[in-house]
Amino acid sequence: MSAQTPSRRVTPLDIRARKGRDGIDAPLVCLTAYTTPVARLADGECDIVLVGDSVGMVLHGMASTLEVTLEMMILHGRAVARGLEKALFVVDMPFGTYEEDPGQAFRNAARLMRETGCHAVKLEGGQHMAETIRFLVQRGVPVMGHVGLTPQGVNVFGGYRVQGRGPDAARILADAEAVAAAGAFAIVIEKVPERLAAEITRAVPVPTIGIGASAACDGQILVIDDMLGLFTAFRPKFVRRFAELGAEAAQAVAAYARAVRAREFPGPEHVFGDEAGR
Ligand code: KIV
Repeated sequence: MSAQTPSRRVTPLDIRARKGRDGIDAPLVCLTAYTTPVARLADGECDIVLVGDSVGMVLHGMASTLEVTLEMMILHGRAVARGLEKALFVVDMPFGTYEEDPGQAFRNAARLMRETGCHAVKLEGGQHMAETIRFLVQRGVPVMGHVGLTPQGVNVFGGYRVQGRGPDAARILADAEAVAAAGAFAIVIEKVPERLAAEITRAVPVPTIGIGASAACDGQILVIDDMLGLFTAFRPKFVRRFAELGAEAAQAVAAYARAVRAREFPGPEHVFGDEAGR
């Protein structure tokens, strides 16, 4: 947890307040988590832990996040809740659970909060979601926004390309401004050029949290399996692997297989005798 983070549970208001008139006091540290042990690892170091709908691709082998259901988010949310004490706990609203109208969004956000204990939800979209974000915030649901590349729109975008390199930059800036004006306490900016990320970060009064959006943002978020080297199906340019756990795990599995085939595992130290204590 960063030096500025209080030892009690971080709240959406704390995150919002970290950005003053001169910008952020220190970059916000955010990661995804989908399980209790990983949430425990992240809790001590992160300001925000997000149960991202990336869970569908990372843990369930789905081709995109579009198949992720509210029930999956609740299951993983409940697991993460057991591992968190300090970080702000945010859960993603999956595709098809909030876009229809503010009422649908409120019902599903309330269910996520009630059944996982999360303190905020994240939803994708800019100007067209502003009314929904305002509706949720006014009714007690803190919202984290998400603009730029919004992966639930992959079929409209035609892939996971960098957004905002052309005339759509102005629209993405307007998206972020609309989301902030609607009451979001922070905004994820995904996969946009550094210049646009810096412009958005200057323009909005709430913290921006970048993923593939440069150090110009007020904080960073990564998918934890990406930065641990556990998710190896593909590697986005914006990911730094801080460990190679996937390669290490593969070596461990191969070593186990060799040991079993050679009847070298289990060894005498793993075996129970007839008498108690052996
Ligand atoms: O689903 C996710 O994990 C996300 C973040 C990485 C921003 O939306």
